[in-house]
Amino acid sequence: MDEAERWLARFGKGLNDSSPDKMWNVKYADYFEQKRSSKILDLGCGDGVHACYMHDKRYNVTACDISSTALKVVNERNPAVPTLLFDMAQGLPFPGESFGIVFSSLSVHYFTMSDTITLFENIHTVLEMGGYFIFKVNSYKEYYLTTKGKNTTRIEEDYFLSPNGEKRRYFTVDSMEKLLARFSVLSLAENDFTYHGKTKYSIEGVAQKI
Ligand SMILES: C[S@@+](CC[C@H](N)C(=O)[O-])C[C@H]1O[C@@H](n2cnc3c(N)ncnc32)[C@H](O)[C@@H]1O
Repeated sequence: MDEAERWLARFGKGLNDSSPDKMWNVKYADYFEQKRSSKILDLGCGDGVHACYMHDKRYNVTACDISSTALKVVNERNPAVPTLLFDMAQGLPFPGESFGIVFSSLSVHYFTMSDTITLFENIHTVLEMGGYFIFKVNSYKEYYLTTKGKNTTRIEEDYFLSPNGEKRRYFTVDSMEKLLARFSVLSLAENDFTYHGKTKYSIEGVAQKI
């Protein structure tokens, strides 16, 4: 089962959550307000809860995902939200400096380090000067607490294959700092949050293209 099919199966079950923890983007309202006249990219938008919230707040957001089922859910949630189907590991199909904000909620952790480095470079490229990359990624703590010892196979450093075929990268503040070397990091910290009823650990932050 490839990544698109996996997410198709998951969204087919009707995942839908707009709990306060899921709406972590609200903390960064000031950054969004600064970029009100720019475009926003929601990368790996899933059910579109963040993109639809941004659209409701009258931001010019495009919701993107590898899963056509996820984008169908976004369209059902709000048909006015523009959606785009693509695999972010194959590149970001936009000219340079297209966006004031690239927003990623738990969506950039599926790739090899080589592909992750390229993805972060591409995010940098599609941001305008002064633009913000606002992200939440899996913390390595999450691996220790929920995944280690459960028949996962190490593919490469910090990157594991689960028995169900899911590949997942876990990040630390240090590994994020390295990946964000071309940005000015404005905030970067580990935190915990509730996701579909479970306590999860993430690294969250904001990096600016300078
Ligand atoms: C954990 S969900 C997060 C969804 C949403 N951002 C949220 O916070 O609820 C990860 C999302 O990333 C998408 N995704 C996974 N691999 C992708 C890829 N290579 N290109 C684009 N989207 C991808 C999945 O389809 C899924 O919607």
